[in-house]
Amino acid sequence: MTSETAATGTGAYKAAHERSLADPEGFWREAAAAIDWDVEPPQVLDRSDAPYYRWFTGGRLNTCWNALDRHVEAGHGDRLALVYDSPVTGTAASFTYTELLDAVARFAGVLRDLGVEKGDRVLVYMPMVPEAVVAMLATARLGAVHSVVFGGFAPHELAIRIDDATPKVVVSASCGIEPGRVVEYKPMLDKALEQAEHKPTATVILQRPQAVAEMGANDHDWAELAATADPAGCVMVDAIDPLYVLYTSGTTGKPKGIVRDNGGHAVALAWSMANVYGIGPGDVFWAASDVGWVVGHSYIVYAPLLTGATTVVYEGKPVGTPDASAFWRVIATYGVKALFTAPTAIRAIKKEDPSAALREGHDLSSLQTLFLAGERLDPDTYHWASDILGIPVIDNWWQTETGWPIAANPRGLEPLPIKPGSPSVVMPGYDVRVLDERGLPVPAGQEGNISIRLPLPPGTLPTLWNDDKRYVDSYLSVFTGYYATGDGGYIDEDGYVFVMGRTDDVINVAGHRLSTGAMEAVVATHPAVAECAVIGVHDALKGQVPRAFVVLKSGADVDPGVLEKEVVKAVRDEIGPVAALKSVVVVPALPKTRSGKILRRTMRGIADGRPEAPPSTIDDISVLDVLRPLLQGD
Ligand code: COA
Ligand code: AMP
Repeated sequence: MTSETAATGTGAYKAAHERSLADPEGFWREAAAAIDWDVEPPQVLDRSDAPYYRWFTGGRLNTCWNALDRHVEAGHGDRLALVYDSPVTGTAASFTYTELLDAVARFAGVLRDLGVEKGDRVLVYMPMVPEAVVAMLATARLGAVHSVVFGGFAPHELAIRIDDATPKVVVSASCGIEPGRVVEYKPMLDKALEQAEHKPTATVILQRPQAVAEMGANDHDWAELAATADPAGCVMVDAIDPLYVLYTSGTTGKPKGIVRDNGGHAVALAWSMANVYGIGPGDVFWAASDVGWVVGHSYIVYAPLLTGATTVVYEGKPVGTPDASAFWRVIATYGVKALFTAPTAIRAIKKEDPSAALREGHDLSSLQTLFLAGERLDPDTYHWASDILGIPVIDNWWQTETGWPIAANPRGLEPLPIKPGSPSVVMPGYDVRVLDERGLPVPAGQEGNISIRLPLPPGTLPTLWNDDKRYVDSYLSVFTGYYATGDGGYIDEDGYVFVMGRTDDVINVAGHRLSTGAMEAVVATHPAVAECAVIGVHDALKGQVPRAFVVLKSGADVDPGVLEKEVVKAVRDEIGPVAALKSVVVVPALPKTRSGKILRRTMRGIADGRPEAPPSTIDDISVLDVLRPLLQGD
């Protein structure tokens, strides 16, 4: 263990964790006191429809009220709720709680005038601008359900989500800004709407000066509508009503619609903000992520505002806007107390400015903690960040499905010693076990499938959108009585969790979760490709990058360079630039099981330099011999 963070030894963490499992009702009822309820929940944990456990059934609340109105009512309207910093446009802005509430209530009026009612879906496809946060909170204000789609996804992926969520209204912007280019969102939205079977009744477009969108008959200008709309009040909902659906990659091409409810979510996030992140009212918290990902939902939007803190909305990259000093400037400018980002962002800074010389001249004295999540925190990145900042660097492990950390170092509750390579200990409410392939617990230190005993705590997914069966099949049927995280790893003798990587076909590219299955489906459409496997291979900056291994159809006469260009373009066009497929390797054959299934796991193991399962046939041995240097090479 490192010495810079000595344990306080209060025992508060251990006591909280034990109590949360022995007396979940008592533990979470107490935590629920941090939330304003219209009707106090008569019940805490509802087991009546297990394995569909529900929290706070019968309670009524509004999440937007809890994030905004109550702080204003309590006299904190002048406190900063949101600061927006956009080096890519050269602009900045800030909103007090009163100002943010006004903007949200007015936009809720816009949505209401367009027919949005409780339970309707509103799809948000926007860059990192304050209006994205406004659209989310306005939807919540009406008791409607938002579904935010990350701007780096292409029209086809957007269309899939439109058809699954069937939104009444889509809210978007004319463009986003990526380093060196303006990304026009409106033509992509138009294409997605053309492809989708579901037709929303209206779209609202935020016009940005960098690219003004052409408007169609169904398109409304945000500014015009907001100028005349009457503000809307909060619509109370049941605790178990959905607040949002966020799509995430599964093993197949069809994304999973993770459902988040209102009550459990508010309680869990408020608890985590104080106890895990050590953030209270008035503190400045910066989650440098994107509202399109779960980190953005939980820790750019909801948790800081539920807490009465100030959130930073940053539009830009950690490097290149203008250089690798961007993060240090933002911390110093706004007095950020805790920064939360993905390790890849730190690696990007380290690559550009290895000695952190650009940190000089920025007063970082406000920064107390750096939180990192979204992918494995490699020890090199951990040590570099710790050394240059001289503050605790805290890994935390969780997923879109859980909405808040499964394992972390609870800085607010009791700072524990840090072990590099581990996101530390299991958070209250989670009963984590490591299981072997038969579902039996393995001894401390031995790797297996990281699983969570049911019920999951508040704030985690109650099911998948419109697909209870897939929820059970994907997560609950792997090991009876457990939720399967899809991650492999071990727990050591001190109870520290070590997450080594996914056990399925999900990969993590620059902190972005992607499905290799979805990419394979696109690669396979190339006329010269007979079969293919897409594998995540190690990348020094992005953690993993996808690489396609393709077997050509017999007689296919195609130049490998041309093939690569065409396949990379197809993946970019169909899934989005964020899929970042960079190389396509032609191979004579792919290793398979006797029944013809491609041995992706074995290939992944070789790529990661981890022990591989014995091949099933002699043929596989020779196939693997050919593949090995290709899998392990750059
Ligand atoms: N809209 C349109 N395009 C987008 C986009 C968006 N919202 N987000 C990313 N893209 C594009 C990028 O421009 C890039 O395109 P390119 O191949 O033409 O250059 C491509 O998608 C891949 O993007 P990304 O994976 O972000 O790589 P990058 O090289 O642009 O930046 C990092 C690398 C590490 C700097 C960047 O990923 C980062 O800042 N990560 C921080 C962590 C984070 O946000 N994690 C999310 C969960 S915590
Ligand atoms: P997402 O749903 O996009 O948040 O991605 C969740 C996945 O990212 C997890 O299942 C892990 O595979 C990976 N992940 C997230 N945080 C960590 C972490 N701290 N350490 C290791 N892997 C992580």
